[in-house]
Amino acid sequence: MDEAFQEWMTWREATRDEPLEGMGAFFDARVEAYEAHMARWEAHYRWMARLLPDGVRTLLDLGCGTGLELDRIFERFPDLAVTGVDLSPDMLGRLARKHAGKRLTLLCADYFACDFGESRFDAAVSFETLHHWPAARKTKLFGKLRRALKPGGCYLQCDYVATSRAMEDAAMAECARRRARDGVAEDAFVHFDTPLTLAHEMQCLRDAGFAKVEPLGFLPGDGHTAMLGAVR
Ligand SMILES: C[S@@+](CC[C@H](N)C(=O)[O-])C[C@H]1O[C@@H](n2cnc3c(N)ncnc32)[C@H](O)[C@@H]1O
Repeated sequence: MDEAFQEWMTWREATRDEPLEGMGAFFDARVEAYEAHMARWEAHYRWMARLLPDGVRTLLDLGCGTGLELDRIFERFPDLAVTGVDLSPDMLGRLARKHAGKRLTLLCADYFACDFGESRFDAAVSFETLHHWPAARKTKLFGKLRRALKPGGCYLQCDYVATSRAMEDAAMAECARRRARDGVAEDAFVHFDTPLTLAHEMQCLRDAGFAKVEPLGFLPGDGHTAMLGAVR
């Protein structure tokens, strides 16, 4: 068992009796301290902004939150038209205030349920939002995302990944145990991390029909946060 999995097992035992929190409520409750907490990913936000191809004019951001990735992306593309989707009204409120005057369309919605349209966006991004879902659900979402991109459009994802299939399976099992314990309805979203391995994540993108799926790597000192690129 690698170090990351061992750390996760220790965390699982330390938190095993904690109740699960609903996804939107979890972020609404933490909006004040949120940006300071996420500052650890500042280099990743900058990296994502650099990776977007020149000439991007329209962007879809899944789980945009308060828009930390957009802070950096707008520095490079000040006139970008962005559609941001997020469940948390408080996170979106902060983003709207921060970037008032930008070409922002904010949808307070579930990205699984929401219609992204067809061939509308030059690019799409997601940052630290997709590590809560099982593979089948993600594959369906990636299919919808792929269709929302223009042909040749690209998707960048930066997210927490499991370091082994054993860790992925253990996190899924623990999430299922806590959901059953707390009597959580099958369709309710809870804030509990169930990351896939990088290989599994890439398989989901391929299964969704992306033509090219590329691991773009990790930044030094952070072997848990992977950048991925995919092209329609
Ligand atoms: C860790 S935050 C990341 C926010 C932003 N991308 C960033 O890096 O600052 C995850 C965000 O995903 C949103 N989220 C989680 N599940 C979602 C869903 N099903 N539909 C839309 N947004 C969702 C949460 O509300 C939260 O704002």
